[in-house]
Amino acid sequence: METIHIQGGIPLQGKVRIQGSKNAALPILAACLLMEDVSFLRNCPRIADVEAMIELLQCLGCSMHWRREGLEVNTRQFNCGALPEKAVRGMRSSVFLWGALLGRCGEFSLEYPGGCVIGNRPVDMHIWALEQLGARFQQEESRLYAYAPHLSGAYIRLPISSVGVTENIILAALSAQGDTYVEGAAKEPEIIALCDFLNRCGAWIEGAGTEHLHVVGGRRLYGTEYTIPADRIVAGTYLFATIGTGGRVLLEQAPVKHMGETIRVAEDMGAVLYLTSEGIYVQGPSRPRSIRLETAPYPGFPTDLQSIVLAVETVGEGRSKITERIFENRFRIVPQLQKMGADIEVEDSICAHVCGVNALKGAHLHGEELRGGAALVIAGLMADGESRVDGVSYIMRGYENICRDFKELGARVSGE
Ligand code: UD1
Repeated sequence: METIHIQGGIPLQGKVRIQGSKNAALPILAACLLMEDVSFLRNCPRIADVEAMIELLQCLGCSMHWRREGLEVNTRQFNCGALPEKAVRGMRSSVFLWGALLGRCGEFSLEYPGGCVIGNRPVDMHIWALEQLGARFQQEESRLYAYAPHLSGAYIRLPISSVGVTENIILAALSAQGDTYVEGAAKEPEIIALCDFLNRCGAWIEGAGTEHLHVVGGRRLYGTEYTIPADRIVAGTYLFATIGTGGRVLLEQAPVKHMGETIRVAEDMGAVLYLTSEGIYVQGPSRPRSIRLETAPYPGFPTDLQSIVLAVETVGEGRSKITERIFENRFRIVPQLQKMGADIEVEDSICAHVCGVNALKGAHLHGEELRGGAALVIAGLMADGESRVDGVSYIMRGYENICRDFKELGARVSGE
């Protein structure tokens, strides 16, 4: 599917089951390389980024099989072979292979990771952090060669909160001699999921979800069964889509516990939320209230939901101010929304001032990255008339089937 056609203006109604978390599944898949065993990941999302990671693990000799309830990962067979350039460059999360491959093979030679065009997305901190554990890096044309005959535990203080760097340190530190202590670790729920998984495999990691992590090095790991938690970003996407269309939806299995700030913002926008054991029941307002929002590392408001709230606030009552604090290029959808009649001004590329209009009008839109693409689909759902969103392959990196989900909620959408 490359294009979604949308007939807008229909409030979403019904229930939708929230898929497993992309950002939890990807580092967990990389973590499987640290053992010579079989693991089973229930609720693993069937999304393009997971398929790309599966392909990379298969190239390393692992066997991967989708079963009815999840993904079986067998890492007993393994070779430190070369990985296809395109697959590595195609996804940011290939960076998780760094820590895992250093642990399993003591070296790697890989292309730089690619990913969504939401900012510079440097890897300097990944390199620096792995160097603290004893890895050495060399630039080889477009590739990066790293070797670490002996990883050693270290004390690492992160200058800024980084999810990926924290995860890479964990992955490498497990194979190190001695313990590793991280100060300033990221606290995202996906890090807790990674550590829960690894601790079930026999690791000893303390402090996940806090700024202080302690990883015991050198323990043997075994395969396990693990259920990937529900995706808080997908749940947030459908929550704000319901607000934008003035609908009523039950977000089944939404991870309420990890959506505190998202829920607060939704309520500020005028939604009525019931948090139940089944998930979140949301009733959208007739028109979203304007808000002031700043993205921040967890437990702050997630940057991955910023463009989605921005799209919804284009029809808000009054003026909203949305500030992006994590990535420097996350307002790329603004010209697309302006094409639909939105009134948005971006200041210093970090702050968007949105003056709500009565209605958006349907348009031909181009998605250029994952969350921005989802935001454009939501804008199409809210708009009068027909919209067409291209670049659906970006959306499929993180949503199992956004078209099916919105269709089940009564939207008039079709994919081609
Ligand atoms: C992860 C998530 C992504 C989310 C982001 C922030 C995954 C697979 N992706 O991305 O969905 O948007 O967290 O919540 O989990 N930085 C550096 N140097 C580095 C690494 C990062 O300067 O070497 C900076 C980044 O540019 C950014 C900040 O650190 O400004 C935080 O980024 P980080 O938490 O590392 O994001 P990711 O792990 O790439």
